[in-house]
Amino acid sequence: MQDFNFWAPTRYIFGHDAELKTGIMAAQSGWNNILLVYGGQSAVKSGLLDRVRKAINEAGVSVTLFGGIRPNPVDGPVREAIAICREKNIDGIIAVGGGSVIDTAKAIAAGALYFEGDFWDFFTGKRVVEAALPIGVVLTIPAAGSEGSGNAVITDSRNSQKISIRTEYQLRPKWALMNPALTLSLPWHQTVAGIADMMAHIMERYLTTTPDVEVTDRISEGLLMAIMKSALKLKENPDDYEARANIMWSGTLAHNGTCGCGRNEDWTSHALEHVLSAIYDVTHGAGLAVVFPAWIQFLADKAPEKPAMLGRRIFNIPEQTPDREAALLTADALRGFFSQLDLPVTFAGLGIENPDIPLYVEYFHRDKGTPYVGYYPLYPEETAQVYALMK
Ligand code: NZQ
Ligand code: ZN
Repeated sequence: MQDFNFWAPTRYIFGHDAELKTGIMAAQSGWNNILLVYGGQSAVKSGLLDRVRKAINEAGVSVTLFGGIRPNPVDGPVREAIAICREKNIDGIIAVGGGSVIDTAKAIAAGALYFEGDFWDFFTGKRVVEAALPIGVVLTIPAAGSEGSGNAVITDSRNSQKISIRTEYQLRPKWALMNPALTLSLPWHQTVAGIADMMAHIMERYLTTTPDVEVTDRISEGLLMAIMKSALKLKENPDDYEARANIMWSGTLAHNGTCGCGRNEDWTSHALEHVLSAIYDVTHGAGLAVVFPAWIQFLADKAPEKPAMLGRRIFNIPEQTPDREAALLTADALRGFFSQLDLPVTFAGLGIENPDIPLYVEYFHRDKGTPYVGYYPLYPEETAQVYALMK
């Protein structure tokens, strides 16, 4: 196991009516003037936005609304909101939504306190985030895990560059209110895309070259098994509150760093997927359902050990199965599971009828470098091979 420094200071308030604590939490945090960031329509239609606003007003805290954040969020609204924060002396940001809204809130939070340049400097690596406005979250979709992560993902609308930044603690939300009942209104395709995303967050960490990480391996396997069991319960009954609760908490644990302590992590599948969601605006988790099995299939001939171990432990692939074959069976089992949830497993399933693999390879290495070094280093010709397995 490697040495590590893990600080995940987010406070989670989980369960029925958690969102009604927004006002108390904002006041306790010492905020007087909040920017409330939300998405397209869902929080307005369900009445959630009104409930949250009322709770904040009752706590005597002022609110400025900033809505319309779309999935796979882009840079424009971030700049707009940074200007509002400065003009109105905003001292706290509350994100009501999922990864797209929370990541936008994080980018705003960092940009609002950065006066020497544009917030995008953090995403190009020109600057690191040293300070940010504090953030609170009302989570409405368990998927990206942004409620507990220090990361944010934004796309530069000028050139479809989807970039992820990672901070140790600066962008971790101070608190997250998590009411599983809020996720009952999710369309099925968003529910399952979220499930694929959280499974990918665990598997990205499982694919490690660090030896002797039994604890994080076992935490990861346990989480994956719990997610798959709860997902199948939801397929039977999408209104099952308990299954939704288990999925919601798993989404946070999948990505707040718990599964990654003391090991290097992969992240190749996410890098491959970000190219697709930047170009086609596909749902991130649905893209991962296509990418992850293809990556495992590719690894069968290159570095099959961990994919094989994963399959033996979570898909009951017999112990004596050689690594290469076990890795191929793991890829098949993942495709089978995702298909069972009605997720796509090919480009066509994502609505991409004529995949442009040379373009994806160009964008992948433009954004992520050459070689891309994860669990197995990728050079352009190999990147093309992985994308070809998604046809
Ligand atoms: O915009 P509205 O109308 O609210 O609709 C949203 C959106 O269309 C809808 N939705 C959310 N909660 C709902 C609901 N509909 C009905 N009822 C509810 N309770 O769901 C749609 C998707 O929302 P989005 O926020 O995009 O989902 P998700 O949480 O999957 O976030 C995806 C984004 O997060 C990034 C992804 O790349 C993508 O841009 N990621 C962020 C990470 C991080 N910050 O740590 C890590 C991830 O790997 C990921 O890359
Ligand atoms: Zn993800």
